[in-house]
Amino acid sequence: MLGTGWGAILLLLYLTAPFLVIFTLLLLLAFRRGRSLSGAVLGEKAARGMEVAWLMGVGIAWAVINLVSIPWIPWLQPLAATPGQTPSEPVQAVNVEAFMWGYTIDTYEVKAGTVKFVARAHDTIHSLTIYSPRGEILATVMLLPGMREELVLNLVEPGEYVIRCLEFCGDGHSAMLSKFKVVG
Ligand code: CUA
Repeated sequence: MLGTGWGAILLLLYLTAPFLVIFTLLLLLAFRRGRSLSGAVLGEKAARGMEVAWLMGVGIAWAVINLVSIPWIPWLQPLAATPGQTPSEPVQAVNVEAFMWGYTIDTYEVKAGTVKFVARAHDTIHSLTIYSPRGEILATVMLLPGMREELVLNLVEPGEYVIRCLEFCGDGHSAMLSKFKVVG
C-alpha cells in the first residue's frame, strides 16, 4: 500500500491509538452531560437527532481530512516531486541502504551542491547521520524498517563526509559507518 511497509502502519496505529481512545471517551462524556440539558430545551428526540448528526459530521470530516492529506506525507513524496528544485541546479540523488552493520551507497562521490539522500533500513532501526569534513553533525534522520526517508542537504564544502548510525542497533552499532566525498 503506497510503498509503505507494515512496520510503518503498525507504528502509526500504535502512536494514534491512545489518542483515539481518549478522544472517544471525551466525546461520550460530553454527550452524556449535554443530553439532559439539550433534551430539556429541544425535546429528547430532537436532541438525540442532533447528537447523531454531530457525531457523523465530525466522523466524516475526520475521515475525509485524513484520507485527502495522505499524499502530503513527506516520506510518500516521489523523488521527482520535490518542491524548491530549480532546473538550473539539478539535485543529485544518493541512495543509501542501512543494515546491520553498515551502509550501501550507490555513489561515493558527489559534486558540491544540493544532494538528496534517499535512505531505507533493511532489518532494524538505524539512523542516517551525516558529518561534515570537520566532524560536525549536519543532519540526522531515524530509519525505520520499511520506511523511506529523505534528507536534502546543501553540501558546499569539498572533502570527506562521514555517515554514522546513532541508533543503537546491536553488537556492530559503533562500527556502523560509511564515507563519501564532495568534490568542488
Ligand atoms: Cu545501525 Cu546503530
